[in-house]
Amino acid sequence: MIEWDKKYCVGISRIDNDHKRYIDTLNKLIHLKKNNETPDGIKQVLREMTNYVLTHFKTEETYMLEFEYPEYQDHKNEHHDFAMKIISYLDKVVNGEYEIAYEILEDLKSWLVNHIQSTDLKYIDCFIKNGLK
Ligand SMILES: [Fe+2]
Repeated sequence: MIEWDKKYCVGISRIDNDHKRYIDTLNKLIHLKKNNETPDGIKQVLREMTNYVLTHFKTEETYMLEFEYPEYQDHKNEHHDFAMKIISYLDKVVNGEYEIAYEILEDLKSWLVNHIQSTDLKYIDCFIKNGLK
């Protein structure tokens, strides 16, 4: 399981709550793996994660645009690449490659941690300056 840690905290509650939810979903997947759960369960959690990730990216991007964040495009590109990746994972699972859901756990985890701790950190000053808490 992955524990929420203050090193993942960006200090803006809405964003932190989103990231916590991502970790919760990831933990669900880890739990399914441990218990050798059914393909349907895996599909459902991965679908939930995909929808949630896309919504979260949209939230961040909307703020960046609104606040005229200078690194918007780079950040958006990073989101786009990950979105494509997670959609292709989901696609594989939907098409019966259930084992992949477990192979990608490390990838899903390290992506989030790296993204929060480098790319997301850069917008904090801008977001806070624009009134987000
Ligand atoms: Fe982001």
